[in-house]
Amino acid sequence: MKKALSVLGALLCASVAFAQPELTADNIDEVIKSMTLEEKATLLVGGAVTPEFDAVTLTGPVQGAAGNTRPIERFGIPMTYLADGPAGLRIKPTREGCSRTFYCTGFPVGTLLASSWDVELVQKVTSALGNEVLEYGADVLLAPGVNIHRNPLCGRNFEYFSEDPVLSGNVAAAYITGVQSNNVGTSIKHFAANNQETNRLEDDARVSVRALREIYLKNFEIAVRKARPWTVMSSYNSLNGEYTQQSEDLLTKVLRQDWGFEGMVMTDWGCKEGTVKSVNAGNDLMEPGNRTETERIVAAVRDGRITEETLDRNVRNVLRYIVRTPSFRGYRFSNNPDLKAHALVAREAAAQSIVLLRNEDSTLPLKGDEKIALYGISSIDFVAGGTGSGEVNKAYVVNMAEGMQNAGFSIDPDLPDYYRAHIRYDAASRKIIGKEPRDWRFPEIPVPADAIRLQAGKNDAAVVVIGRNAGEGSDRNVADDFELTVTERELLNNVSNLFHQAGKKVIVVLNVGGVIETASWKHLADAILLPWSPGQEGANAVGDILAGRVNPSGKLPMTFPVTFFDHLSSFNFPHEYVRDLRRVGNEPLKDVDYTDYAEGIWVGYRHFDKHGVEVSYPFGFGLSYTSFDYSKPVVKAGKDGFTASVTVTNTGRVAGREGVQLYVPAPEGGLEKPEKELKAFGKTALLKPGESQTLSFTVSAYELASFNEGANRWETAKGAYTVGFASSSACIRCKGTFRQTAPQCRAVSDAFVK
Ligand code: BGC
Repeated sequence: MKKALSVLGALLCASVAFAQPELTADNIDEVIKSMTLEEKATLLVGGAVTPEFDAVTLTGPVQGAAGNTRPIERFGIPMTYLADGPAGLRIKPTREGCSRTFYCTGFPVGTLLASSWDVELVQKVTSALGNEVLEYGADVLLAPGVNIHRNPLCGRNFEYFSEDPVLSGNVAAAYITGVQSNNVGTSIKHFAANNQETNRLEDDARVSVRALREIYLKNFEIAVRKARPWTVMSSYNSLNGEYTQQSEDLLTKVLRQDWGFEGMVMTDWGCKEGTVKSVNAGNDLMEPGNRTETERIVAAVRDGRITEETLDRNVRNVLRYIVRTPSFRGYRFSNNPDLKAHALVAREAAAQSIVLLRNEDSTLPLKGDEKIALYGISSIDFVAGGTGSGEVNKAYVVNMAEGMQNAGFSIDPDLPDYYRAHIRYDAASRKIIGKEPRDWRFPEIPVPADAIRLQAGKNDAAVVVIGRNAGEGSDRNVADDFELTVTERELLNNVSNLFHQAGKKVIVVLNVGGVIETASWKHLADAILLPWSPGQEGANAVGDILAGRVNPSGKLPMTFPVTFFDHLSSFNFPHEYVRDLRRVGNEPLKDVDYTDYAEGIWVGYRHFDKHGVEVSYPFGFGLSYTSFDYSKPVVKAGKDGFTASVTVTNTGRVAGREGVQLYVPAPEGGLEKPEKELKAFGKTALLKPGESQTLSFTVSAYELASFNEGANRWETAKGAYTVGFASSSACIRCKGTFRQTAPQCRAVSDAFVK
């Protein structure tokens, strides 16, 4: 009898094993039914599989990836790989015992991509970037980063796109579409209100619901609705008193109910207390993940703090993600993307996005064969991208001396020699004292005035490169960062005086990750070019523009203010004068433990416009080597919102492209409204002199709405709307009107309603 039972037992086991489903896209619920509680918890937490696998991302097939999801062999669930982002794929470039390398392309940073105002270009760049994700074996790129440029000092602004949600959201949508066209995923981040790096894990962003809906969530909303990212990354910080990764309001009500998001949500990298709250809030995956989190989930399901239904909901989201991945499809990646072709894409992207801020007496373009005195340590130590998780391990960076030589200029050799010698000396001294020069910017060094006088005599023009770098984990300073250092000022003054005395021109190149002060010194330069941090090929693009091979067509995605405190947010931002203050007792520290977004919706040009504050360079501004005429503005009420078109004609002497912006003043209503808001934008093709192109736009009534916090709904007022076709936020070139005959309201979930 006993024997018979054990045979029966064996048969049963065999049949259970036989019935155990292998995961497919169509049997997710069946698989969930067959999973144990521990297996489900395993799927909700990334990271280690066995003790030897703790360093999986450093030893596995995608070394240097930031994280992973865990495999469950018995259902055929593979491990999947998550890697940074955003200016290129971030993996380890070398591997032990392997002679070949695994470099990735360093594309232009997010702020430069947004300066293109060209969603097709962005999509082209990120299609190439996504191909590297696929061919190096990763499943998700942890990008794009889309947090709003609330203040110039945020250390990660270079990763992000803009101060305006419509520009940011549409660029993000194009970014996601490009990457995902390779059948790999993206993770739009950091959701939400992660606008400073100081105390980024704990800071409580205190933001009104209106500012959230109209500014800080709007760009995520546009990107989620238009491009359906596979995943969203919740941020570290808390928002109105609750960690975003634990906020049901944010992750379920806004993201899923209001916007229809159907993908997976993962945390930013770190284990917080409150895993159970995160699971219940709709944060499906904990990254990078550790055992405590798995144990917390198992315990909470056992004692009912997490229901089976909630657990299964999150597991379902993770499995739905997994069945889309290359790892699940068994894609045989080559480890061999076409880096040469992608370098060309990176160069083109930089060239089409660089912003010309100043060009007195048509200083630029130069002829292209001049003798150039090239100043600034960043001309050699060129900043291709920022630091931290946004850095890309690229095979090389073209510096300004090389970029200009490649364009045909001859560079006075004394200056690069001088800077190279200093870099070697500085690096060697740091090594001696045990500080490797990692993430280190070599400070600007003085050039004696006598040397400059000599150089002004033997060169045709001066190019001065001002460099800045920043990255994850800290914000920038006002002194010596937003503002120029004493050495930089002295250099600029001397170069400007002595070259101008010799009748020669001075060009400044701003190789910066974020906005810097320009108002006090711009008169010293004849021309100013802003390539931001343009990627590994960016200096070649700068060379092309200086030599006139490419006509600049980038425009600013963020205002350049006159002074730091012209931004309202500067009074509630952790600049260096407040962030090092000590806590008194347990009192939370302003701007460090909590940040009041007291400026509400008055961010960037919305504030400068409304309150009549003079700026150094307005949002949307950028010059060209040619000029454009705007004509035949047509604006018509559509079934929903309006349609518009305008004809742009190249009236100058060289071919060029023009970025056109549509600003609409919100009509009168109960709420205080911005003077005008960007509602759409487009860019012409390369127009020959005399050539015209008509650009068309469609804007829905919902896109015109403001958020009425009292009524908790979006409202589009009825009445006459004037649509401005503009070359920048400060320059409306022509107008048209339409009438919204009936008001429109759109209800939302009760998220954040007290
Ligand atoms: C950053 C994320 C990044 C993650 C993984 C975090 O510290 O905030 O942007 O994706 O690390 O590297």
